[in-house]
Amino acid sequence: MIEKLLNKIINDDCLNALKQLTDNSVDMTFADPPFNLKKKYNHYDDAKEVQDYLQWCNVWLSEMVRITKPSGAIFVHNIPRWLSYFSQYLNKIAYFKHWIAWDSPSAPLGKTLLPNHYGILYFTKSKSHNDFKFFDIRMPHPRCRVCKEFLKDYGGKKAQAHSFGPLLSDVWSDIHRIRHKKRRDEHPCQLPIPLLERLILMTTEENDIVLDPFVGTGTTAVAAKKLGRRYIGIEQDKEYANITRNNIGNAKQTKINGCFVSKYLGQIRTMRDKDFKIIFDIDKKSIQDEQKDFNSKTVEYSNYRDENYSILSN
Ligand SMILES: C[S@@+](CC[C@H](N)C(=O)[O-])C[C@H]1O[C@@H](n2cnc3c(N)ncnc32)[C@H](O)[C@@H]1O
Repeated sequence: MIEKLLNKIINDDCLNALKQLTDNSVDMTFADPPFNLKKKYNHYDDAKEVQDYLQWCNVWLSEMVRITKPSGAIFVHNIPRWLSYFSQYLNKIAYFKHWIAWDSPSAPLGKTLLPNHYGILYFTKSKSHNDFKFFDIRMPHPRCRVCKEFLKDYGGKKAQAHSFGPLLSDVWSDIHRIRHKKRRDEHPCQLPIPLLERLILMTTEENDIVLDPFVGTGTTAVAAKKLGRRYIGIEQDKEYANITRNNIGNAKQTKINGCFVSKYLGQIRTMRDKDFKIIFDIDKKSIQDEQKDFNSKTVEYSNYRDENYSILSN
């Protein structure tokens, strides 16, 4: 049954479409639902009564958990207000792993703290670390754009830092929302592809199945295709579904030395820890050399880029 939905964008209400999937059939589910913030979508009305919104969310959250495999992962992106309700609900039917704070500055609203992050809830269906997939991830060291020095002092232990970059924490400040009009489609809340690539690299393997019930312009599906995964995207708006199909058509796999990585503007943004040596072709001897020549190597690894791109910027 699932075969005929693979690598497809289903133009339907997600509650209808999800019914077609059997229990435990998908490796990763990611949802970025409307936030009930009166955003201007083509057709969807983003101003529901709070109770109606939350009840509706509980239905698709249950479906996400139902269809995810015991080895799989469930992610939900939203503002902290709604995530506080979602966590309460998900804690009854799945296992909490992380609240990822995705740093994203916004305008002052007055008489509140400045909202400075979106949250991504990460739940699994299995309790034990032995039973669900998780891969250690590295991101490049944050560096000064001009002098290339580390921006953090790593508790005075810079010399012991990994050559490429640190293991990922639960606060992500290095992936930016898409602000430039020329980089976005006609949609009010398109996510950046590197965000989804990071989640996919962290919790799935090649050929695994990634499902997004609110695929919008197709960010999740594009990221999955670029990383050699299969996808199922659901979007009720016909125009958004068409944008998605077009975006998927343009997506190409991103591999270095046989390893899938996430790149943006020619720079590696996310890689698996276990792929580091293969990606940079490092044998044991050069690792020792690298310790001696730490500074030049770290810059070289962190600044990896395609020949196609000569400028580092974001
Ligand atoms: C926040 S946007 C997702 C954006 C997406 N992550 C991206 O990067 O383009 C939410 C999407 O859910 C769609 N949507 C709303 N209700 C839906 C439903 N019941 N079933 C399927 N899609 C729905 C909206 O049309 C909208 O495109």
